[in-house]
Amino acid sequence: MCGIVGFTGNREAQGIVLDCLKRLEYRGYDSSGIAIVSKGSLKVRKSLGEISVLESHLESMPGNTGIAHTRWATHGKPTTENAHPFLDCKEEYALVHNGILTNYMELKEQLIKKGHKFTSETDSEVLVHLIEDSDAPDLKSKVLSVLKKAEGSYAVAVVQKGLDEIVAARNESPLVIGVGHDENFIASDTTALLKYTNEVVPLMDKEAVRITPGSIEVFDLNGKPVQRAPAKVSWTLEDAERSGYPHFMLKEIYEQPRAIHESLLGRLDGQEDDSIFQEQITSIKILGCGTSYHAGLVGKYIIEELSRIPTTTQISSEYRYSPVTESKPLVVCITQSGETADTLAAAREARKRGCKTIAITNVLGSAITREADHVIYTRAGPEIGVAATKTFVTQLIALYLLGLRLGAIKNTLSSDRRRAIISDMRALPRIVQSVLNEASAIEGYAKKYKCAHSMFFIGRHLNYPTSLEGALKTKEISYIHGEGYPAGELKHGPLALLSKDTPVIAICAADHTYEKMLGNVREVTARDSPVLAIGTEGNQDLSKYAEDVFLVPKIDPLFSPVPIIVALQLFAYYLAIERGCPIDKPRNIAKTVTVE
Ligand code: F6R
Repeated sequence: MCGIVGFTGNREAQGIVLDCLKRLEYRGYDSSGIAIVSKGSLKVRKSLGEISVLESHLESMPGNTGIAHTRWATHGKPTTENAHPFLDCKEEYALVHNGILTNYMELKEQLIKKGHKFTSETDSEVLVHLIEDSDAPDLKSKVLSVLKKAEGSYAVAVVQKGLDEIVAARNESPLVIGVGHDENFIASDTTALLKYTNEVVPLMDKEAVRITPGSIEVFDLNGKPVQRAPAKVSWTLEDAERSGYPHFMLKEIYEQPRAIHESLLGRLDGQEDDSIFQEQITSIKILGCGTSYHAGLVGKYIIEELSRIPTTTQISSEYRYSPVTESKPLVVCITQSGETADTLAAAREARKRGCKTIAITNVLGSAITREADHVIYTRAGPEIGVAATKTFVTQLIALYLLGLRLGAIKNTLSSDRRRAIISDMRALPRIVQSVLNEASAIEGYAKKYKCAHSMFFIGRHLNYPTSLEGALKTKEISYIHGEGYPAGELKHGPLALLSKDTPVIAICAADHTYEKMLGNVREVTARDSPVLAIGTEGNQDLSKYAEDVFLVPKIDPLFSPVPIIVALQLFAYYLAIERGCPIDKPRNIAKTVTVE
């Protein structure tokens, strides 16, 4: 995954594109580059490392049009040569690309035979040489003719020497157009543009755009104009900045009470459009990757509890290759970014199999919203930290809401139970705030356990997936190996790994599994593993069993994953702080994974 931006207007472009680019650094940060067009010239500068390194090397580059790129290597090592933008042989065009071209080897060979000289090992560079090679009359038609030959995914932007315009296009990689006054933008993501505009035009797959300071023309790959009105996003610049927090991850953890509140606004009064549910729903399949998959695993318990509809959860990339069965479940695709390639492919497969699909996503106009029959937005606001936090919690909220609606349709909830559930949901922001108020206690446990090489996270029932998510946060942010496990399974093998050096984080929610969890804690302490038990207020007896105890406020056990995961997010965060890890940009992973 990489980030691209472009600007054309009456102001100097250099500062604006770099400013926007920095907000995309979460998408990739192994190298970056910039191209600036001014009258009669086209300058490109690139550098290895983060954008600050590029910036420190840059001279002033006058010009009103520019494109820039921050890279996360897929083809070719992270080097200055492989950084974007790429120039053609005559240095007439500069191009940035996010995505993967599957037929680039074949195209490259043809271009080399024609005498083109390549300077990088990337797939992207072929595009700029193809543009040079095209005999179409103008930049727009050249780009369109080239994209007809390119197979694979792309968000691409091109500038030409001496021209104040940018031609850009997308296929399976995100790209939005930002609308300004006498200036226009393109970017991989709306958050990059919020300082300059909150009016955006989403670009769809296999569409292109030509922007100048005074115009935006969207068209399909045959050059046929497409009419699309701009939409206003409600996110503010403050939403996309750190607001005094040392890391986006911490800011986003602390934003959860508000994110939950907003995700519930107007949705508890039963006024939602239920047209998607008109057909008989006999089963549900939830699909997602990583953290979104974990939300889906919790979702299975929620939906079965509230509506009694049999539900299974599957990893998106596994679903695609599973056999087609007779049944046509309602398919729920969870993806915070709305751009994860595996989940998009799974959504397409589900439709091919004749299933109705619902997308749960955080990003307005993202690719999944065009694949699904119906969309539920999570309203978490922009999430910049690579580790998903507030989007996970708001995905759970979306699943509770979905469960409630299905429960109403299936008539499985008494009015008292429904009222109690709604009242518990309204209390969630306050409950999460209480956990946040105790962050210093969690920080203390992180200091104690920071030297561990490996940890187990155990839970039962709907807190088994919570344990998986706690383990994932810990490994990706603190680089401690964390393994989530169903507590009942420990005795079937993993106990062999336990010792005084293997802390166990035991989720002991006050539900029908509590006594069994106490048994598991005893099993673990008998192997000398230190235990941090996460329990519920009222279960003070936990301290008799576990060395360390953290209690979250009392709530219906159905909602316990919400406060518990907030505690585990803080735990992972403070472990990472103690170990000096780069929290918002963990090594080897990117925020949105647009390759399969
Ligand atoms: C982990 C994390 C990833 C994502 C996964 C799916 O903190 O963020 O595991 O959850 O890559 O991403 P989305 O939800 O955008 O489909």
